[in-house]
Amino acid sequence: GGAGEVTNYPFSFEGLTGTYDQNQLQRGLKVYTEICAACHGLKYVPFRTLADEGGVGFTEDQMKAYTATYEVFDRSMNGGEGDFRTAAPTDHFPENNSVGAPDLSLMAKARAGFHGPANLGINQFLNGTGGPEYIASLLTGYTGEEKEEAGTVLYENKAFPGGWISMAPVLYGDDVEFDDGAPTDIDSIATDVSAFLMWTAEPKLAARKQMGLTAIIMLTVLSVLLYLTNKRIWAPVK
Ligand code: HEM
Repeated sequence: GGAGEVTNYPFSFEGLTGTYDQNQLQRGLKVYTEICAACHGLKYVPFRTLADEGGVGFTEDQMKAYTATYEVFDRSMNGGEGDFRTAAPTDHFPENNSVGAPDLSLMAKARAGFHGPANLGINQFLNGTGGPEYIASLLTGYTGEEKEEAGTVLYENKAFPGGWISMAPVLYGDDVEFDDGAPTDIDSIATDVSAFLMWTAEPKLAARKQMGLTAIIMLTVLSVLLYLTNKRIWAPVK
């Protein structure tokens, strides 16, 4: 199979001023919770950040209600032996090593979707690194072919480097129900969860872009002032 096929899905957070779509991140969280969390963890993501601005955008109450659905293992409890307790907003999402699936907290930044042309990565300047595009393409890229190698079942996938992945297909379309009536075809669900995973990997994206834009405006103003100052300084000589 031709591995490394990545579709350039459009995302709201692309470009100079793009930001996260709060409703999409909430849908993506739902997909993560109901489907991915069975095997994957998000150990670098604190529950409290679900109420941060520019991200999932839960109210404090929504964040606390979501957090309370988790149990975490607290090493300090039970006289140092540790015990399970209801999660608090300061806790992180649990890690999950049950089947050896990688943690997804930073996955959208750890993978690149665009490598061309000629593997120079120049497309990344124009289209971004392509992490979320890669994840969405992975989730939708199964061909249906399977094989067994050394006791492990591998599934053919058009996006996965090497073409054969040990993660079974998890999305088929209509895998979740959304309260906001958003579409639940496989592409929509895959892009929703990929957008959510971009947020977990880069929660300060909006602030970073805002800072960059402010810097460009300030530098532009400074350039104009320097140009005029230069003119004035050299006026007597010219
Ligand atoms: C690997 C995403 C659900 C098991 C991965 C990778 C991603 C991913 C991005 C890394 C691929 C790479 O290395 O480039 C997701 C998402 C899910 C989901 C977004 C939910 C929509 C699941 C479920 C299971 C699972 C439910 C278990 C039944 C695995 C395993 C790997 C993996 C075992 C390692 C595959 C390998 O390296 O061959 N997943 N996954 N995943 N996932 Fe998932």
